[in-house]
Amino acid sequence: MKRKLVSMTLAVMMGLSFTACGSGGDNKPATDGGNTATEDSASDNADDGAADDASNDDAANDGSSAEVANKDKPLVWFNRQPSNSSTGELDMAALSFNDSTYYVGFDANQGAELQGTMVKDYIEANIDKIDRNGDGVIGYVLAIGDIGHNDSIARTRGIRKALGTGVEKDGDINSDPVGTNTDGSAAAVQDGSIEVGGKKYVVRELASQEMKNSAGATWDAATAGNAIGTWSSSFGEEIDIIASNNDGMGMSMFNAWSKDNNVPTFGYDANSDAVAAIAEGYGGTISQHADVQAYLTLRVLRNALDGVDIDTGIGTADEAGNVLSDDVFVYNEEQRSYYALNVAVTSENYQDFTDSTKIYEPVSKQLDATKSPSKKVWLNIYNASDNFLSSTYQPLLQNYDDILNLEVDYIGGDGQTESNITNRLGNPGQYDAFAINMVKTDNAASYTALLNQ
Ligand code: BGC
Repeated sequence: MKRKLVSMTLAVMMGLSFTACGSGGDNKPATDGGNTATEDSASDNADDGAADDASNDDAANDGSSAEVANKDKPLVWFNRQPSNSSTGELDMAALSFNDSTYYVGFDANQGAELQGTMVKDYIEANIDKIDRNGDGVIGYVLAIGDIGHNDSIARTRGIRKALGTGVEKDGDINSDPVGTNTDGSAAAVQDGSIEVGGKKYVVRELASQEMKNSAGATWDAATAGNAIGTWSSSFGEEIDIIASNNDGMGMSMFNAWSKDNNVPTFGYDANSDAVAAIAEGYGGTISQHADVQAYLTLRVLRNALDGVDIDTGIGTADEAGNVLSDDVFVYNEEQRSYYALNVAVTSENYQDFTDSTKIYEPVSKQLDATKSPSKKVWLNIYNASDNFLSSTYQPLLQNYDDILNLEVDYIGGDGQTESNITNRLGNPGQYDAFAINMVKTDNAASYTALLNQ
């Protein structure tokens, strides 16, 4: 029953997102059967995991199997979409590296809008107690994840748009951090206003900062915990709301200050710890349907490896009965990208989201190993200590890899340097497919260069 409610909300939101994001999200997955048949290359996979000296014995067990060049193997980019970190322009060369290349992420604009609206709705519903010092100004601080990451940029814009604090820059809302802005003079934002019950309040972004540590890691939770310490000690009584580009940083601020001071913090990701914290005053979060994303990440590889229609088990049920309904994802063919849809998680529905690592029931059925034989996948996560990727996404991938008969090597990066990861892709020949989460969205070529060799 609750599920139904959530799906209905999703269906409504989806309608909105189609009109809002204008990215032409057509919901028809590609049906290119033109996959670079790798089906035979796995005949050698009986020796999975063993110190396989790679590639070159691929055809050895089976005279008929054609060896697949690394450049023709299935490749999925996930969570960080190949794009220019300054302009956001998609890197179509990386997204169409070969016929079996895709991106899996979520609809950043729809989610950002949802986060902004969630905060605005909360303010309106709690107007009698929100302005803690009664000065008529509703002050918020904002933790920014990575100024060059399109999801982070979208979320900053979503908050500023909903609260009326955004100013235009190059045809869009400026997403620059302001540093400290207690006097309302920063150029990158403006004071917004909100009227409830006939009374008008000013809304001010008191401070915002990219949470990057001294070694260069972005979305850094510890940095956010320090920032709220600094901000609260100089203008704590002015802070009425905390907004964060994700739950990792949000929870760090909640635990360091906001919980004890009854100031609601709003994050993004619906990590299990953040969802549980809603019972203790965390304001809310957004589920980006990581359960659907993790499935899609591995499923598109599986389909490409099996040489079947890419929509199998996605928009079209597979033989086991796995299928996703179109209220949980969209496929944009032009961008070769699958986007999961987001859902707001608040005090009203958080009980439905308490375990963020639970696989999505409609796609939980085991594939037949005679038709989808074991294959080896190289998969990296840009930063082994990213809260969302390590506590939500990777456990989900690990649940799905068995169901999909994929043997995945999980590589965790340091969040700072691409080479820390690419150095560990020295021998791509021993894998059948690749799933990549870059440190920086501009860096796709460092990976494709290795596959092209
Ligand atoms: C998530 C963040 C995460 C970031 C890393 C985003 O989609 O929401 O929590 O840190 O991806 O790339």
